[in-house]
Amino acid sequence: MPGVTARACANIALVKYWGKRDAALNLPAAGSLSLALAALVTETCVELDPALGADLIELEGKPAGATEAARVTTFLDLVRERAGITTRARVTSFNRFPTASGLASSASGFAALAVAATRAAGLELPPRELSILARRGSGSAARSIFGGFVRMHAGNDDEAAYAEPITSSLIDRVRMVIAIVGGGVPKTHGSRDAMDHTAATSPFYRAWVDLVPRDLAAAEHALATRDLVALGEVTEHNALAMHASAIAARPGVLYWRPATLALLAAVRTLRQNGRAAWATMDAGPHVKVLTTVDDADHIARALANVEGVTATTISGPGGPAYVVG
Ligand code: PMV
Repeated sequence: MPGVTARACANIALVKYWGKRDAALNLPAAGSLSLALAALVTETCVELDPALGADLIELEGKPAGATEAARVTTFLDLVRERAGITTRARVTSFNRFPTASGLASSASGFAALAVAATRAAGLELPPRELSILARRGSGSAARSIFGGFVRMHAGNDDEAAYAEPITSSLIDRVRMVIAIVGGGVPKTHGSRDAMDHTAATSPFYRAWVDLVPRDLAAAEHALATRDLVALGEVTEHNALAMHASAIAARPGVLYWRPATLALLAAVRTLRQNGRAAWATMDAGPHVKVLTTVDDADHIARALANVEGVTATTISGPGGPAYVVG
């Protein structure tokens, strides 16, 4: 049987997903809102092979580790169950990310896997169904089925927790500058476990979950009214609030390195100097800066000079996940 190859872009949340209401179904505790990035693409090939006794999973040209392989097989089991088949698969996946960026890629990875695996299994799922399925692999992957600005619904059950694109003319103006913080950064605490730990132990978790609907409403209003300043302000504020809830867990989940703080300060200075620049951070030390087509080069050059930054990349908005060829 020939393999099916799919591509998906990573996305960066402007209003974050941090916490689940249901671990088994991977239902988020609140909604989220993101921007797909054209510069960060995962390409995944799935080939069903009746001769295989178990799934064979290769990531970046190497056999996957036990934990990653188990996650992929659990996901493939959902697809097989839906298609009424038991055939095992050969999966190969590559991140077409800027070299050694150190960016996690579960969003683009599970979105590309959902598209390639369903097609290989003979299923033709509409985008919303693909989004619901991708969510089972990773919450943020539900958003990577779509391009541009994307909203994820919290939903009360499996069928209601899906993502969908938001049309906004701001899409032509925005860029994201990614500043990679490297050099001896210890392996970060995976988002899946870290958000559960925050929910279980942080005194600020409830306040965080209560805040998200307000930030989502503000972000959606900003998109509808083409108000980049309002979008930027809610983006930076929401990231800081998410990290505050994680930092207050016991023990604290602290992703920031000295360079992360230096980047946050640099972004504030750029803003004071009249540039469009708002920072956001995920489950790692890197800083992503929401900016404009006009300011992106200046911001990237300024951030490259911050001590501890090993690379910068400018990305435009990415498109939806698709089958290649
Ligand atoms: O989908 P996960 O389990 O990789 O979690 C994503 C968590 C954050 O990147 C920190 C926030 C987000 O909404 O993408």
